[in-house]
Order: sequence, then structure tokens, then C-alpha cells
Amino acid sequence: MNLILLGPPGAGKGTQAVKIVEKYNIPHISTGDIFRENIKKGTELGKKAKEYMDKGELVPDDLVCEIATSRLLEDDCKDGFLLDGFPRTVYQAEKLDEFLKKHGKKIDKVLDIAVEKEELMTRLIGRRVCKACGATYHIENMPPKKEGVCDKCGEELMQRADDTAETVENRIEVYNSQTMPLVEYYEKAGNIAHIDGAIGLENVFNSIVSVLGE
Ligand code: AP5
Ligand code: ZN
Repeated sequence: MNLILLGPPGAGKGTQAVKIVEKYNIPHISTGDIFRENIKKGTELGKKAKEYMDKGELVPDDLVCEIATSRLLEDDCKDGFLLDGFPRTVYQAEKLDEFLKKHGKKIDKVLDIAVEKEELMTRLIGRRVCKACGATYHIENMPPKKEGVCDKCGEELMQRADDTAETVENRIEVYNSQTMPLVEYYEKAGNIAHIDGAIGLENVFNSIVSVLGE
């Protein structure tokens, strides 16, 4: 199954991705995670991406397309994949379609997760992530058992550099202006499913399963 997760920052794409890839046994490809790993390692790509990410701006299209398509060529993507955070502009979607067509593939479903702005702000400002394993928590909605410590690996939790109120506000604006047009793009392609993301995370997952099938 070839899937795309679409939705504003904080909609719960990363949270649902963990559950989707486990159930359907496909790799999780998050362009945001790829950039953050590169920032951590201090690579040239990381340095370039950080300039944009810290401001809540999009990384330039050509750079993102190159990263995403080379990841899709890896062996584990042969029988399906879940794209999270890519594509994010119409240009990226067109490039992805060209790439898939060339390889005799297509997108089976675009899962568009919707949540209101106020809730997005609360979720992102309260989000904490594990420094070591990347597990995601929320100070109120999904707190770890011990404050500031990851349940899974015992390492320290931190706040993402782009989860400050000001940057979050900009990320939501950038989503509305540059990524929202993708809804229409996939509406025309006829393979989009709209998911209410403002309900509890198990309920969101159940809606996704009812779209994708057992
Ligand atoms: P990226 O890493 O993709 O971030 P994002 O799209 O902004 O999304 P987030 O990871 O912030 O949110 P999410 O929807 O995954 O929410 P989560 O599950 O964590 O991109 C970061 C940056 O990289 C971009 O700004 C850009 O600069 C660059 N970039 C990446 N891809 C690019 C591309 N294709 N082109 C150009 N630039 C690109 O949940 C959020 C919080 O809510 C958590 O605390 C969670 O615990 C909580 N939560 C989740 N679900 C629920 C629920 N149902 N109820 C209550 N709380 C919930
Ligand atoms: Zn951890």
C-alpha cells in the first residue's frame, strides 16, 4: 500500500504514522525526521534545512524532492510506504507523481487529517520528544509516566526547536498557503480520505483503519 499522510503541523501525522506502519508493515518516511537526523549529525543537508525549519518555512522543493525520491528507491519501499510530511507543495506532488509513474507505481490513498488551529497550537506547544528514540509525548494529553523522561528508553525529553508559539503560528500559515492546495490536487485525483483528527488518538486510528481496511 502506497500512502500519504497530509495535515497541518500538530494534526497527529507522526503519532498515527507509528501505528499505521506497525499494522500495515510498511516503512515510515518522514522528510521532517530525515532533516532532524541530519541536523543532529551536523551534515551539510542538516545545516541547509535548519535555516528554514527554525523559522517554520519550507525547505526548498528541489532539495526535498531529491531526498524523498532517493529514499523511495530503497529496497524496503518495494511493497509500499507511508509518506509523512511529503509532498507539501503542488510542485512536490507533481514531481512525486512523475517519479511514481516512471516506476510503474501510484498512490493508493491520501489520508488528510484535519484539526482546528487553536488545538494545533496547544498540541505543538505542549509536545515533548525523546532526544534518543524520537518518541512523542504531550505534557497534558499524553504525558510520560515520569515527567521529562521517555517511557520507552529512559532518556531525557526535549522541546522541538520549531515548537515555539511564534514559529508554530508561521508553520500553520505556511501550511494554509502552500500545502492546503494539495487537498484539491488529490481531490481531483480521487484518492483522498478526510479524517477528523480532533478526537482521541485511538479513535483517529480506527477511522484510518476503516478507510484502509483490515
Ligand atoms: P515535520 O517534521 O513534517 O513537521 P510538521 O508537518 O510541522 O508536523 P509535526 O511533526 O509538527 O506534527 P504531527 O502532525 O506529526 O503531529 P504529532 O503526531 O507529533 O516538518 C518540520 C519542518 O521540516 C517543516 O516546517 C519544514 O521546514 C521541513 N519539511 C519537512 N518536510 C518538508 C517538505 N516536504 N517540504 C519542505 N519542507 C519540509 O502530534 C503533535 C502533538 O499532539 C503531540 O504532542 C501528540 O502527543 C499530540 N497528539 C497527537 N494526536 C493527538 C490526539 N488525537 N489527541 C490529542 N493529542 C494528540
Ligand atoms: Zn526514548
